[in-house]
Order: sequence, then C-alpha cells, then structure tokens
Amino acid sequence: MKKMILAGNWKLHKSPVEARRFLKDFLPEWVPYSEKHEVWLFPPALSMGAFTELCASATNIRFGLQNFWSESQGAFTGENSLEVAKGLGASVALVGHSERRQIFGEDVSLIREKVLLARSLGVLPVLCVGETLQEREKGKSLQVVQDQVDSALGELDPFELAVAYEPVWAIGTGQVASPEQAGEVHAFLRQHLSSLWGEASESVPLLYGGSVKPENAKDLFAQEAIGGFLVGGSSLDPSVFLDILKKGR
Ligand code: PGA
Repeated sequence: MKKMILAGNWKLHKSPVEARRFLKDFLPEWVPYSEKHEVWLFPPALSMGAFTELCASATNIRFGLQNFWSESQGAFTGENSLEVAKGLGASVALVGHSERRQIFGEDVSLIREKVLLARSLGVLPVLCVGETLQEREKGKSLQVVQDQVDSALGELDPFELAVAYEPVWAIGTGQVASPEQAGEVHAFLRQHLSSLWGEASESVPLLYGGSVKPENAKDLFAQEAIGGFLVGGSSLDPSVFLDILKKGR
C-alpha cells in the first residue's frame, strides 16, 4: 500500500476556536493511520496557535503557512514571517498557490524568492503549479507546469520540497481532473524533476489538488505518480478530510 500525504488548505476559514475543535475531533481519528501516512495542514495564520498547542506530540502531522513574505522581517506591513512561523512549530508552507498568483499577482520571481527563503530556513515548501483552462485547451498544460517548476527551482541543488499539481480550472469548481489527465501531468513532473535533480528527485512528493473529495480520491490515487492530495473545501470537516485517506488509499 502506498503512503498518502493528505494536505489540507483551509484558505480563509476557521477561527482559532474552530481550529481547536477540528483538531480535537481529528487527532484521535488520525491515530490508526498515523504510522503509515502523513497529514499536512495549512490553517489561516491567525489560527496556527491551535496547532502549536495541540499537535506537538501528534505523529506525522505537519502544519504551516498558506503564504509568507520572502524576507523574515522588516517593513512589510501586514505580511507573515516564515521564520516566526517556524518558531511556532511550522515545518511546511505553500508557495505559488494559484490564488496567490491570480488574486494577489505573485509573479515567478517572488515565488522563487519564497522558495529560497523556505529552503534556507529548512521549511518544506509545497510548490503549487497548474494551468488555466485556456492553457489546457491550447494543449499547453505540460509546458506551463514545466515553466513554473523551472522558474522556481532552476539551478538549485536538491532540497526538501513537494510539488502540488493543481489545475486552476479544477480548484473550488467541483470539476476534478480525470485520473488520466492528472496522471499524465504527474508522470511528466516526475520525469522533469528527475532531469533536474536525478535520483534526489525521487523523494519529492507529488500531490494532486483541485476538487478532491472522498468519492474521487481512489481513482486519482491509483495513478502511480500521485503521492497524495492538496485539499481545499473537503479539508474543513475532519471526517470528510479523513475519508479521503480511508477511501483513497
Ligand atoms: P479545492 O481547493 O479542493 O477546494 O478545489 C484546492 C486548493 O486550492 O488547494
């Protein structure tokens, strides 16, 4: 049986009280799966304290920021410091989520700077890549994800990293990529990372994201190159979230 990395991106949902309630329900249910699989959770920064408090002794649970600035401190009003988050127990961080790219205008050079900061702090960046519907219709999916990987990683020696393929048209739309579509891009990413990093790339987990639910997890996870999921909407309810693992593995 393959190990699954089940990652949950809560976006702008859940207060500290709601985060604590989630963890109190989720953690006991997680125990039977925790030796074999991994959970990574990305709460809103203001609710991360619940994780610092309740996850310290949990097995195979990592948590971290959905977004952070590319410098650890300075005159950057309103931003999150990855270094501070690390001090609070964060060991993973999303970088380049399509909502950051599209709504907040993050460009490839900022995304690369963020990857560099995470690498220097020893926090695992989850680099999110994916094409728009227009790009898919023009047959450009593989080129787009390759360019996104290259602009973020080009010339860097291997370090602890995960890549999440999240087609923009599948995020929050209920329109999931077919197992074949997702499998094709994952296989391509696996091959491309191998051309950059050789054998060291084999330890880079590849996650699929975009309308993942308990009902579609099994067929997607059957694709060899898919090592887990980055889940938005279906990560908010602890039992639905864990069902993705139960049904998908
Ligand atoms: P979704 O979001 O599961 O709600 O489509 C995925 C994501 O944005 O990471």
